[in-house]
This record gives sequence, structure tokens and C-alpha cells, in this order.
Amino acid sequence: MKDTQYFGISDQDLQQAAELLKQGKTVVFPTETVYGLGADARNTGAVSEIFSAKGRPSDNPLIVHIAHREQVAELVKEIPEKAKILMDAFWPGPLTLIFRKSDSIPKSVTGGLDTVAVRMPQNAVAAKLLEYAGIPVAAPSANLSGKPSPTTFRYVKQDMDGRVDGIIDGGDCAVGVESTVLDISGERPVLYRPGAVTVEMLEEKIGPVRIVSHVKQGEQPKSPGLKYKHYAPNTPVKLLHGSQKECTDFINEQSKTASVGVLVFDEFAGFSDRVKTISLGSINSPETAAQRLFTALRDMDRENVSVIYAPEIPDKGVWRAVRNRLYRAAGETIVSVSEKYWKKVLFVCTGNTCRSPMAEAVMRARLTELRKDAEVFSRGLFANGLPMSYNAVLALRDMGIEPMEHRSANITSEDIASSDLILTMTENHKAMLLAAAPEESGKIMTLSEWAKESADVSDPYGGDFEEYSRCLNQINDYIVKGLNLYAHKFSDCGK
Ligand code: TXA
Ligand code: MG
Repeated sequence: MKDTQYFGISDQDLQQAAELLKQGKTVVFPTETVYGLGADARNTGAVSEIFSAKGRPSDNPLIVHIAHREQVAELVKEIPEKAKILMDAFWPGPLTLIFRKSDSIPKSVTGGLDTVAVRMPQNAVAAKLLEYAGIPVAAPSANLSGKPSPTTFRYVKQDMDGRVDGIIDGGDCAVGVESTVLDISGERPVLYRPGAVTVEMLEEKIGPVRIVSHVKQGEQPKSPGLKYKHYAPNTPVKLLHGSQKECTDFINEQSKTASVGVLVFDEFAGFSDRVKTISLGSINSPETAAQRLFTALRDMDRENVSVIYAPEIPDKGVWRAVRNRLYRAAGETIVSVSEKYWKKVLFVCTGNTCRSPMAEAVMRARLTELRKDAEVFSRGLFANGLPMSYNAVLALRDMGIEPMEHRSANITSEDIASSDLILTMTENHKAMLLAAAPEESGKIMTLSEWAKESADVSDPYGGDFEEYSRCLNQINDYIVKGLNLYAHKFSDCGK
């Protein structure tokens, strides 16, 4: 046990806390995102104290916090152009950038990696502390490993009292979810963790960003933090997929036999008195939901409920950060409570001559094998009445599937409204559909998302037979996986 010293936010207190950091001690401090557990990033002994205070695996690298942009130079090998643009735009603020590291940072900080994550916080208390300390400060979120990050003094104290040398009480954190983590060290920027600096904001400044915020089983994650269970309260969390009414009915039904907690939005109504609800704010304010999320999860943990339900969250803007945390708290599973069968399934790609008609043909064939029933069709975003491309026909026949009669056609709003499930080939297609019909977001997803995979189905157009075959195999693989997950969502033949 350590004798933890407590500090306020006066200059004198912050100078004392900075002194502890300089002496190689551990200090918990507020930032605009979440509380951080800091120590001198150049001091291996101090850094190892962070890992033991958190109970964190030492291969999970830490973010180095600085007060001034000039400090980056000593930490990294080079500062890419795109990094400069992003620092201009978003520093100080909730954006962490990953660079190739210099020798001044020990490998214990970076979990053995050749890269280092750097961030310049905006919170005034953090900025002053870092200024007074004058050293780069390694700091993960100040939670016990695996727990939701603390965003209030109360939960910091609960996790860290007696485990660290100092704790600064800086009130509640404004953003509430951890910083956006972007790897800027390679050719193409890669997003490892969504945050308040959104993908859309980043892309506006530097062009396309690849999103890798979760890893498939058995795959080696590029960002070690991706492989650990995270943000989880002790109580199991489950995400519900379905209309608002279907979710409410399901929860009320559950509450008859179990003690149930629900994270809701202010606009939700109709829960039985037995249900314990905590609001994430208005359904129109992702910022409020982000700010409240971790505290809501921890508060719910104190309510002695046996399960915490949460609504499914959209995958764009600041919502993406909220969705990512909830999704991981829920062990990456979403429970469908929708009673409705998928009677009409629509595949969408660009020209409706290659990918989407191949997917249509495969889905028809696989449903027939399963003796399941659904109307399946396909449309394009920019189609001009062409037949299926010849190599698509050949690839299907090679797989033993006889293609249906086909002419490419443009998607209409009736197509969207009348379908129960709409699967797009890429994130881009999905974004275009969502822009056209935001109210239908519940049924629009990428084929890979549906199959719990991670890669888009890219366009084989103009490619040779082999390329079409590869594309078809990917589509088939995803459809088989999706049907494994969701066979129950299709009615049996003849019913
Ligand atoms: O908002 C935040 O970033 C907070 C506050 C305290 O600044 N800090 C924080 O740190 O969330 P932590 O350690 O809980 O999360 C750091 C994330 C982890 O997922 C880690 O794997 C990733 O950043 N990361 C750090 N260095 C990395 C590197 N060199 N390469 C890839 N990922 C890295
Ligand atoms: Mg963390």
C-alpha cells in the first residue's frame, strides 16, 4: 500500500504534484478525456510502477503526454507532414498520434514496439502539471486494468487509492471517452481507437484513414490495446438490436424474472418500474453520451442488477467512439430482439453488374440449401441496365451456382423502405445509403459487418476470372458466416 497524497488544482498543489513526477513517482491527473495515471516516461523504474498500479499487462504500450509541441522532436524519429497538419488542427486536444520512436523513450513505455504514442492534452490542469514537471509523462487511463476508464474523482479514488503516490482532484472529465488513437508512422494513417476527434474530422484534413478498431480472433493486433477486454463493469453488458419498441418490450419482459439495468436516452419511454435506467442524455447528442458513458457503466455496477442492456449505437462521428466502447464492454456481441423475419434482402454495390448480383446468387443458393425463405435482390448506386459481367457468371458457375437472369438497376427509396436487411459491399456504399436514408440505419450494414468480419468486398470490375473468383469466394465466405449467425432470422421454406 502506498500513502497516497491528495491534491487540489491550485498552482501550489500542481507544483507539488509535478515535483512527485520529477522524482519518479506516480500521479493521477485529470485530462479532458479521462483521468491518466502518470509517471516520467524516460524513467524505467517509474514506468514499471504504472503497470503494477493498474495491474496491466506490460506489452500494452502507454501514451506519452507533453505540454509543448516542441517536445515531440526528442521523442520521435521523424514528424510526417500529415502529423504536422493534424497537430496544427487538433492539438492540444483528444488526439493521440503514433510516430516512429527515438531512443529517448524506453521500450517498457511502448510495450516493446518501435513506435511511440504522443498526446498533448487540452485540460488546463493537465497542461499546467505537464508544464511544471517539464518532462514527458507516460500515462494510461487511471483505471484498474479491464475496468471502464475513470472520468470522475470518485471513481479514480475507488481504483487508485493506496496504489499511487498522488491523485489530483480535477472534477469531471469533459469528453469522457479516451483520445482518438491514429498511427501516422506508415504510408496510410490507421485509426486504432475512435474518439472525440472523429474519422470525418481527420479525413477532412489528411484524406483517407483506415479503420482498424477491432481484431479478429487469432490475429496479432497492431495496437496491443485492441486485444484486451476493456471498459467492462463487473455486470455483463448486452447490446440490443431492434426497434425501440421491440427493445423496450424485451427489457420489460426480462425484468419480470431478473433485475435489469438499461442505459437509455432521454427520449426513450415505456420501461416498467422494475427496470433501473440511467440516461446517456439526448439521442441527438453523442457528446453527452460519450461524457456520461463510463460513469454510467460504473454507476450501474453499484445497482446490483444482473445484466446491463444498452441500445445499439450508430457508426459515425462521435457516436463511433461511444459504439466502440459499448461494443467492447459487451464482448463484441449484439443481441437481436427483433421478432421480424428478414423476408426481403437487398445487396448493394456500385454498378450492380459484379459484386451485388454475385452476392444475390450466392444468398439464393445458400438459403435454398438451408431450406430458408426470403426474397433476395440486388441494386447499384450507379447502374445502367447492363447484364451481369461475364466473369461473374463464369465464377458463379465454377462454384456450382447457376446465375439468375439479371439486368443492373439503380436503387430507389422504395427498395430501401421495403427491404428488411440491406447489405453493402463497402463502408462507402453504406455511408451513401445512410446519407440518403438515415431513418433506415437499423437495417443497413456492410456484408462484412453482418458476418462479423472486417474487410470490405472490393471491386473486381475489369479483372480476370481469378480476380472474380477470389471476390466471389470472399462473398460466399461472408454469406455462409452471416447465415451461421442469423439462420433463425429467416423463415423456414413453406411457412
Ligand atoms: O485519452 C487518453 O488517451 C487517455 C488519457 C489519460 O490521455 N489515455 C489512455 O491511455 O487512454 P491507455 O493506455 O488506456 O490507452 C492507450 C491506447 C492503448 O489502446 C494502446 O494499445 C494504444 O493506445 N497505443 C499506445 N501506444 C501505441 C503504439 N506505439 N502503437 C499502437 N498502439 C498504441
Ligand atoms: Mg485504458
